[in-house]
Amino acid sequence: MTDKNALPGHSTTSFGAPAPSDRNSLTVGSDGPILLHDVHFLEQMAHFNREKVPERQPHAKGSGAFGEFETTEDVSRYTRAALFQKGCKTETLARFSTVAGESGSPDTWRDVRGFSLKFYTSEGNYDLVGNNTPVFFVRDPMKFPHFIRSQKRLPDSGLRDAHMQWDFWTNNPESAHQVTYLMGDRGLPQSWRHMNGFGSHTYMWINAQGEKFWVKYHFHNQQGEKNLTNEEAARIAGMDADYHRRDLFEAIARGDHPKWVMSVQVMPYAEAKTYRFNPFDLTKVWPHKDYPLIKVGVMTLNRNPENFFAQIEQAAFSPGNTVPGIGLSPDKMLLGRAFAYNDAQRARIGTNFNQLPVNQPKVPVNTYMFDGHMTYHHAGNAATYVPNSSGRAWADETGPMEDSWENDGNLVREAYKLRRDDDDFGQAGALVRGVFDDAQRERLVQTVVGTLKSGVRSPVLERVFEYWKNVDAGIGQRIEEACKKSS
Ligand code: HEM
Repeated sequence: MTDKNALPGHSTTSFGAPAPSDRNSLTVGSDGPILLHDVHFLEQMAHFNREKVPERQPHAKGSGAFGEFETTEDVSRYTRAALFQKGCKTETLARFSTVAGESGSPDTWRDVRGFSLKFYTSEGNYDLVGNNTPVFFVRDPMKFPHFIRSQKRLPDSGLRDAHMQWDFWTNNPESAHQVTYLMGDRGLPQSWRHMNGFGSHTYMWINAQGEKFWVKYHFHNQQGEKNLTNEEAARIAGMDADYHRRDLFEAIARGDHPKWVMSVQVMPYAEAKTYRFNPFDLTKVWPHKDYPLIKVGVMTLNRNPENFFAQIEQAAFSPGNTVPGIGLSPDKMLLGRAFAYNDAQRARIGTNFNQLPVNQPKVPVNTYMFDGHMTYHHAGNAATYVPNSSGRAWADETGPMEDSWENDGNLVREAYKLRRDDDDFGQAGALVRGVFDDAQRERLVQTVVGTLKSGVRSPVLERVFEYWKNVDAGIGQRIEEACKKSS
C-alpha cells in the first residue's frame, strides 16, 4: 500500500519521472492536433482503458473489511490448525456480497448473501467462502453454471426473469430448502452486520493425533438479527443501491465494530457413514440436537479498506485454500468449488493474483509456480524444478493424506446414494412449520406470490404450486389460492 502522506509533492508518470501536466495534452499550438510523443497523455488513456477487471461471476456486488479472529475456546481435541488454538489472534478479511446482481446492482434485492473470509494464518491463508444460509440450491457442481444463469438475465432482453428462476428451481426440487430460506425473512437482511454466516459445507478437522472429525461452521452476529420487509427493500433499492456497503463502511469508520461468534458442529468421523441422511449433502442442515454448537471464537471487523479496488475487488477467496488441521470433504459441490475459484481469479485478476498484497500470505512462500504475467515475488536463481540438487526444498508426501477419506467403486455419473432420511422437501417443511411463526409464514406466502406475479406462466406456475405443496401442503394451497385470487 502507498501511504498517501508519503506521496511526492508533485504527480509523476508511472515510471516515476515528474509528470508534465495532468490538465493539458501536448498540441501543436493551442488549437492544434495532439502529438503522439505525449507519452504521459498516452499512458493515462491506455491505463484508463484497462482500469477495470472483469467483475466476479457470480457474487459481483459486495464489499468488505479487515479485522481479527480470536480463538477464545480450547478446541484442540478437534483440530490442530494453528488459527484455532486457544488465544490465537489472526488477521482476517471479510467480503459480503449478493449472488446474482452485477457490480452496480442494489444491495437490497432479495438474494442469498456471500460471507467470504480470509484468515492470514501462521500456516498460510485459510479461506472460508460461505453464505448467510447454511444450505444451497443444488448438490452437484455440474448444475452450478445453469443455476447461476437462470438467476441472471434473459439472452434477448437482458432482463431478470422470475419465470426462468422458478423454472430452474422447480426442475431441481433439491433447491426447496434454500428457496424457503431465501423467500423467508432472512432473504432480505437489514445489513451485513445483522446477518449470520455459515461455511455451509461439511469440512474436515484433524487433531494433533491425526484423528478426523466432520465440522460445519456457524457465525452468529452479535448485533442482533434484523431483516427488511419487501417494501422497505424496494424503497431503499431505488434510493441507495449501496445501502449495505455504506452501512458497513460507516459503522467501522465510527468505531462500531461488528462481531460474530464462530461455533462448529462436530460429527465424529465414523458416524458419517451411518448417519440417517447424507451429511455431505449441501441442501441439508445437521439438527442441533444431534450435533450441538461448540463455541470456537470471535471475529471482529475493525478496519475499512483504504482502497476498494486493490483490497476488495482484487481479493481472491477460494474454498480450496486450506491449512494443516483442516480439510475438505466428499461434498461434490465443495470439490467442484476447490477448482473453480482459483481458476476464476487467474482469468479475472491475473496469473499471479496471489502475489497481490491483499491475497499474499503472511508466511514465506516457496512455490514452484514460475513466472507469468505480473510476477513480483520470485525465487531468484533457485532451481525451478523438482527434484533438484541445489538444496531448494520441495515436498514429497506419499500414501494416504492426513485429510483423506476412503472411496471405492466404479466411475459413475450418479446422484448421491439415498439414505433413510434423504429427501428434497423434509427440511424445507420443517423450516416452514417448526421455525417460522404465523407472521413469517404469511410473509413467505406474500413474497412467493409477489415473484409469481412478475411473469411466471404455465407450465412453470403449476409446478411452483406443486413444489410448495411438497414443502408444506397448507403453504402450497395458500400460495395457489392467493395467486389465483389476485390474477
Ligand atoms: C459448484 C458450485 C460453485 C461454483 C462452481 C462456484 C463458483 C464461483 C466463482 C467462479 C466465483 C467468483 C470467484 C472470483 O471471481 O473471485 C464465486 C464466488 C462466490 N461464491 Fe461460489 N460457486 C459455487 C458454489 C457456492 C456455494 C455453495 C457457496 C456458499 C456456500 C458459494 C459462495 C460464494 C461466495 C461467497 C462468492 C464470493 C467470493 C468473494 O467474496 O470474492 N459459492 N463462486
